[in-house]
Amino acid sequence: MNMRFDILTLFPNFFSGPLDHGILSRAISSGVVQVALHDLRDFTHDRHRTVDDRPFGGGEGMVLKPQPIFDCVESLGAIESRIESSSSKINQLNKSNTESNGSITAIAPKPTRNTSRQSIILLSAQGKPFTQATAHRLAALDRVVLICGRYEGVDERVADLLADQELSIGDYVLSGGELAATVVLDATVRLLPGVLGHADSARYESFGAPDIQPNDPADGKTPDGVPRSTHGAGGILDYPHYTRPADFRGAPIPEVLAAGDHAAIRRWRRQMALAKTLRNRPDLLARAPLTPEDRAYLATLGYPNQRSS
Ligand code: 6GU
Repeated sequence: MNMRFDILTLFPNFFSGPLDHGILSRAISSGVVQVALHDLRDFTHDRHRTVDDRPFGGGEGMVLKPQPIFDCVESLGAIESRIESSSSKINQLNKSNTESNGSITAIAPKPTRNTSRQSIILLSAQGKPFTQATAHRLAALDRVVLICGRYEGVDERVADLLADQELSIGDYVLSGGELAATVVLDATVRLLPGVLGHADSARYESFGAPDIQPNDPADGKTPDGVPRSTHGAGGILDYPHYTRPADFRGAPIPEVLAAGDHAAIRRWRRQMALAKTLRNRPDLLARAPLTPEDRAYLATLGYPNQRSS
């Protein structure tokens, strides 16, 4: 039950920090996950180890060449099936481009659904949003290849012919895919059985179906032990946490937490989570599963008719 990540990057040393600390480091040394770093420059063939080139059609900046990326992926065993089929995709691609009476459309045929338990992912700001639901889907795979882009972009044939998905971690521009790959890696690995301490792997059978039930006790876990703050997978934000001292610089903890009425604590935590979600992420609230009790509480806060601020 060991999962493998292959990370293709121009900066393999970038990952020494993240891989050497905390949960990721522990998951690697315990053998739950294996992470192999691949320096794209090792797959160049010229004296200068060139990985980039100027964009066809002009424009700013440089573009990552497809060749080192294709060669690197081809050098990884066990994922050759996709690559063998990429020649037929090239034919399809050429066909769809010539059929469009001379205008350049470059609408790639999307790769056939990946049935193997592996994925080749291009990280780019143009990707689909990476969410908790994506992390759950990846955690169910045996092998994930993460391709980190740099410069102004990556030759589009990597997205069209090599990767089976293109992911973005949010609506902002990063200088490269390495930070995003680290995010994807961390969010996925912490879902693997045995990584977070509650090593009861049987409870994790339903990866990919992490949705929160409206009647869950609001104790921070779904029935299968998934942390509740799984926004993006249909959840709401987490409730506030407190630890000692009960009075810190004159700021007390909420009384309900010290009183020992566990039903009251659950209710309060749920309400605080709802209030914070309304304040910080009203978009999540709109698609979260809510009980009548949730809605009654939210109504006291003016939801759904509250004016957005
Ligand atoms: Cl995956 N890459 C880059 N360069 N920028 C991003 C991103 C990825 N996700 C959000 N912004």
